[in-house]
Amino acid sequence: IAPIVRDKAQLREIVTPWKRADEVVGVVPTMGALHDGHLSLVAAAKAVCDRVIVTIFVNPKQFNNPEDLANYPRTEEADGRKLERFGVDAIWVPDGDQMYPEGFATTVSVSGVTDCLCGTTRPGHFEGVATVVAKLFLQTQADKAFFGEKDYQQLQVVARMAADLDIPIQVIGCPTIREEDGLAMSSRNLLLSDRARVYASVLYEVMEDIAEALRGGATMSDVLPDALARLNKAGFTEVDYLELRTADGLDGLERADVPGRLFAAAWLAGVRLIDNIAV
Ligand code: PAJ
Repeated sequence: IAPIVRDKAQLREIVTPWKRADEVVGVVPTMGALHDGHLSLVAAAKAVCDRVIVTIFVNPKQFNNPEDLANYPRTEEADGRKLERFGVDAIWVPDGDQMYPEGFATTVSVSGVTDCLCGTTRPGHFEGVATVVAKLFLQTQADKAFFGEKDYQQLQVVARMAADLDIPIQVIGCPTIREEDGLAMSSRNLLLSDRARVYASVLYEVMEDIAEALRGGATMSDVLPDALARLNKAGFTEVDYLELRTADGLDGLERADVPGRLFAAAWLAGVRLIDNIAV
């Protein structure tokens, strides 16, 4: 059973011998409420690393809404049990004081890739992510870090941050794991009522249909009105964005004439769902 580590000095004691022995250390940063999407990252890490650290920290700095932070699911015991069968080497569960002791005053801010999508609809969110992930990288001294394409923009932000700050870590993106009906797995899905859960998969269905139309030569303006109407009918109250962008750099696109990605964020029954697919 992997040790649950709650103290920075203890973490360093565990990792230092691994580094001395030249073992490849992998890290999987999470906010807990683990599901098969998270566990796929753990499996990917186990496959190519000698040692794997899973981190669980609900990072207050990346929540731009106090209610969202308060409601975020916390399931630590179940998380520990889910990790047992993967043979991870340590579970790093810092508390708020370990991560942000009194006097903490540094923010890591990445420009460019944060100028769109969740960067504009969730002010401060990616500063919070970049700051905590930089700390997690340095605390764990990992050689490889595993992130889901589910949060595609986050993956770009983290890769940019590590490269810019010369943190010697390889950032690896892993495919989105979905429920049977297509809904991207997310800890926030636990917050959906049974009724809302039934309609949640409409987001992915609409996105797949848009992607198909785009591949056939349609433009975003051609497909948006119908897509928004379908989301509305399924109970989505607000669409933060539904946009086609370049897979690399996240520049806006009107048609899929270069490798693109379709991004969506929309609210269903008070829960904000995000998804993205390759076009
Ligand atoms: P969290 O939402 O818990 O996600 C942790 C990791 O799991 C992220 O890399 C995310 O992209 C990945 N993930 C989530 N759902 C997935 C799915 N359905 N398929 C594949 N991967 C999935 O993202 C965060 O936490 C935080 O922002 C964090 C990076 C930990 C910084 O606080």
